[in-house]
Amino acid sequence: MRKLTDFRLLSLGITAIYLSVTATGGVTDSVSPIYGVGLPGEYRAWQMITVAHEAGKNNDIRAILGNDVAVKAFRERTRPFPDGSVIARLAYVYQSSAENDTLFPAPQSFVAGNPTNVQISVKDSKKYAHSGGWGYGQFENGIANQSQPLLNSCFACHKKLDSSKDFVFSHYSP
Ligand code: HEC
Repeated sequence: MRKLTDFRLLSLGITAIYLSVTATGGVTDSVSPIYGVGLPGEYRAWQMITVAHEAGKNNDIRAILGNDVAVKAFRERTRPFPDGSVIARLAYVYQSSAENDTLFPAPQSFVAGNPTNVQISVKDSKKYAHSGGWGYGQFENGIANQSQPLLNSCFACHKKLDSSKDFVFSHYSP
């Protein structure tokens, strides 16, 4: 019991140091609220699963990438996704390219502009048992968005898919 208490005090101390470092050292908001999902360091080198364009007020163009576990599951159509699958959705302003259009008879070229945000889904069926096995995060300029309503909206929408799809909308584009 004594040891346990000491350990608890120690971890409280470490948490306090961590919080004060993040408060003063500029390394803030590295993980999402609710889920504690961080931005995987190497995600930009992951393989492409598919691309998508959203019109309306989002007006973005997006690439969906996956780590090796996720890509294998997509290719083999394994559902549910195995633990350790991570999917990244990278969105950019969808903009017409005046530069490219000078080469065409009529305006037709649309390209990725500035990045808007990166969304991450992490599969861990035990840790995230209350949200279908998925943890979520959204990042702007590498900083985790701290809005709880935003993070609550993720599973609230993804769960509208039937569970045979394991709450993932995207399909693998060969
Ligand atoms: C209103 C519904 C809705 C909400 C809210 C929503 N998503 Fe999605 N999400 C989608 C749809 C539809 C797609 C596939 C098409 C697309 O990317 O536009 C998608 C795609 C994704 C993908 C690519 C993998 C997949 O499931 O297809 C990730 C990762 C993702 N969303 C994460 C998030 C995160 C993180 C949040 C919350 C911050 C969130 N989503 C909120 C509807 C939603």
